[in-house]
Amino acid sequence: MTNLGNIIIAIDGPAASGKGTIAKKLSEYFGLPYLDSGLLYRIVASEVIKHNIDPTKKRLVIDHVKKINFDRIDNGSLRNDNVSHVASIIAQYKEVRDVLLRYQRSFALNGVVMDGRDIGTVIFPNADYKFYITATLEERTNRRFMELLEQNSELNRNIVKNDINNRDQRDIMRKIAPLAKADDAIEVDTTFMKIDDVIDFIVKYIHKDKKS
Ligand code: C5P
Repeated sequence: MTNLGNIIIAIDGPAASGKGTIAKKLSEYFGLPYLDSGLLYRIVASEVIKHNIDPTKKRLVIDHVKKINFDRIDNGSLRNDNVSHVASIIAQYKEVRDVLLRYQRSFALNGVVMDGRDIGTVIFPNADYKFYITATLEERTNRRFMELLEQNSELNRNIVKNDINNRDQRDIMRKIAPLAKADDAIEVDTTFMKIDDVIDFIVKYIHKDKKS
């Protein structure tokens, strides 16, 4: 573990790009807290589903989001297609994003590695380091397909591909805080890279920057 103080590292990228795994490993390496911001959107989505709220009814979603306790982060039940889909719908609402923006900023008081879609652009425009993680749609589909196959052996690869693509389109096209590479972010195309090589690249980049 290398301690660089309370720095902020922003990791953004499209669905299934591996940004979560990368962010988590970096947080361990640098001894920093880690937050997967996507989980916050998933918590909102799962609450909306649980309370039978139509996610397209903006007012109902906004009224409900104020009542949610975001410290209750329960990974397991939040990683499924329906939650992903609903998360990308409610993520379009400014009022939802504002509540989560405050949570994300207050989480980072002791430094953080945070991954999401708008971390380098909106949440921490002054982050110490920003990385934008990409991979081709085919490669991201393969990664997600292999991951989900363990839970469901009947899974159809084309459905997985469409889900990823539709979610990316919704995240890129939305008016507020769309998925985008910050101008000063380093883009890392991981299509042909192993996870350890990505970590190695980022760690070396940060160390080199610290020395200069
Ligand atoms: O990262 P993850 O796939 O868990 O995110 C689920 C959804 O939450 C994304 O498709 C996106 O719509 C939304 N999200 C967002 N901004 C973030 C993180 C996630 O809009 N910073």
